[in-house]
Amino acid sequence: MTEASNRGWHQHLWHPFTQPGRGPAPLPVKGGQGVWLELEDGRRLIDGISSWWVTLHGHSEPSIAAAIARQAETLEQVIFANFRHQPAAELSERVCALWPGLERMFFSDNGSTAVEVALKMALQHSWRLGGQRRQVIAFEGAYHGDTFGAMAVGARGLFSAPFEPLLFDVARAPWPATWWGDEACEQKESTALVQLEQLLETPTAAVILEPLLQGAGGMAMVRPEFLIAVQQRVRQAGALLIADEVLTGFGRCGELFASLRAGIRPDLVALSKGLTGGFLPMGVTLASEELYQQFVGPEPERTFFHGHSFTANPLGCAAALASLELLQARLKHYQSIEAKHQTHLERLASLPQVKRPRLLGSIAAFELAGASGYLEPIGLEVQRHCLAEGLFVRPLGSVVYLMPPLCINDQELERCYSVLSRVLERLPVQS
Ligand SMILES: Cc1ncc(COP(=O)(O)O)c(C=O)c1O
Repeated sequence: MTEASNRGWHQHLWHPFTQPGRGPAPLPVKGGQGVWLELEDGRRLIDGISSWWVTLHGHSEPSIAAAIARQAETLEQVIFANFRHQPAAELSERVCALWPGLERMFFSDNGSTAVEVALKMALQHSWRLGGQRRQVIAFEGAYHGDTFGAMAVGARGLFSAPFEPLLFDVARAPWPATWWGDEACEQKESTALVQLEQLLETPTAAVILEPLLQGAGGMAMVRPEFLIAVQQRVRQAGALLIADEVLTGFGRCGELFASLRAGIRPDLVALSKGLTGGFLPMGVTLASEELYQQFVGPEPERTFFHGHSFTANPLGCAAALASLELLQARLKHYQSIEAKHQTHLERLASLPQVKRPRLLGSIAAFELAGASGYLEPIGLEVQRHCLAEGLFVRPLGSVVYLMPPLCINDQELERCYSVLSRVLERLPVQS
């Protein structure tokens, strides 16, 4: 590293998705309360993206902190292959109760592992049935995590290039992303459905998608109608539908889960991020009792040979239970965020710098005019200017979005938009 690019970077830390010399060094942070992050130098920033979409109710939410502390004094960890405990049992009961038809919960450590588990369950199920259904279908632009299986189903490109020869083959259908005033939406949907039907002519184990919103792929939203049509085709073909709700789950999309909002009933669901309110890393995969029964029997090969050291960590379960309690108590209030975003986003969308505005629950996104792609430097410029005004955002290249913790109040949301609008007004308009 050069002297200049070294400045501000710690000598032993290696940060994710980050390149010294490209963009600012990670900021030393001291604390977080609600939507606010407090830096070591005393500056305060609004966390406009919920710290990579995990902080659900707000930083340092007292009831979750207290639940973790209580649990830590009772049972901090136990091997889940030989033991079960009340927080895991209660969490499985409460989460499964929200998902008609999904009665089994398998724990893992994060979003990527929750996806890996769903894929492995689908593929082992198909293998048990003779292995003819081998194909996995995913959508263009998808992001499902950074482990190998999750990478394989995600869109290929810059992130996955070094590992390309080792990733298993995945068939791809187009993702008909839409936005306010998009006149070609229905046409894009029907093209995508025709291609999906063609792919489904090959025996297929599973189709995986991010319901209503591809997150890392650029906050790319689709209509519920599209997902319902996808589900019909997947069912007809006898494949399993996997919903990756790692980002969309737990109230982010204006409903408890995006699948519920869209009116689909997936066979397998991956959850993480907001599961523990963003306090502790944990993932879960939900499956039907019928699928689970395929893994039960005297033959050793029926066993699902998958597990992680921290499976069903009691602290994570306690955090998740406390988070769920809050979510259910505050859901109405959280749902009201969408209408507030709408008013602000409509105003922002009148700026010539703003293209393709879109909104889902607590997530508002748009593209910067004249720019496209993840490596687009304008995103970093927007980030830098917003930081200087007390707002932390992390544009996905040319896609700028807000996804604040759900405790955000009207003044704080107003502040996010006024910073954004000042920053955007200063940008040159590109056509
Ligand atoms: C839809 C989706 N799936 C999976 C993942 C991977 O989750 P994790 O980063 O916890 O491994 C992410 C992370 O952003 C995601 O957005």
